[in-house]
Amino acid sequence: MNIILMGCPGAGKGTQSAKLLQAFPLHHISTGDVLRAEIASGSPLGKQLGEIVNKGNLVPDELMVEMLEKIVKSTDKGIIFDGFPRTVPQAEALDTMMQRLHREITHVIMIDLPAQEVVNRICSRRQCKKCGAILRVDIKNPLEKCSACGGELYTRPDDTPERATHRLEVYRNSTLPVKNYYQNSGKYVEVNGNQTPEKVFEDITKILEK
Ligand code: AP5
Ligand code: MG
Repeated sequence: MNIILMGCPGAGKGTQSAKLLQAFPLHHISTGDVLRAEIASGSPLGKQLGEIVNKGNLVPDELMVEMLEKIVKSTDKGIIFDGFPRTVPQAEALDTMMQRLHREITHVIMIDLPAQEVVNRICSRRQCKKCGAILRVDIKNPLEKCSACGGELYTRPDDTPERATHRLEVYRNSTLPVKNYYQNSGKYVEVNGNQTPEKVFEDITKILEK
């Protein structure tokens, strides 16, 4: 299985990836996490990437494809692609790369979330520095420690109302066309992301077990 998880900012791609990893022997590639790790390293490349990512803009396609190929080659497991492809050129490059590596995308799963939910979801997200858990907090009374491991929580720099709105705009302009790219492939399925995480996971599992 090689799965593309698509969806707007806050749709639940990271949340569902974590659940999938517990149920299936898959390797998770979140291009957002890869970029944030490079930014956190403080490298010259990380500094350039920070200028782009923290404003909610997209990193150039060639650079993303190059970074992705290295990770794909590093594992023999099936892959969950979370946040890639995000443009039609990235989708085309992924097809070419998978063919070259004798692998195949088996499922393209779109987690659908109404636009009016996006800012609320993004602004109430916290992530654990220690275990990586993605949490939803009450903004009026946010948690200070991770409910799973007690680790320190952080807020992504791109998780402000203004940046979330901008990211949604970027998603509509650059990433929604990727849906058309896959829609007639026989691999494309939509799930309702506006349900409990458990119910979304149940729907995704049914698709994968068909
Ligand atoms: P990335 O990290 O991929 O961000 P994103 O696509 O905006 O998605 P998010 O991570 O914000 O949301 P998610 O769908 O993972 O939701 P989550 O599960 O966390 O990318 C960040 C940036 O990196 C981009 O803006 C760009 O700059 C760059 N980048 C990345 N990939 C790139 C690429 N391929 N090309 C170019 N640039 C790239 O959930 C969100 C919140 O909702 C959490 O609080 C969670 O607890 C809660 N939640 C989840 N599911 C539910 C549910 N069912 N019900 C209630 N709450 C829920
Ligand atoms: Mg994510």
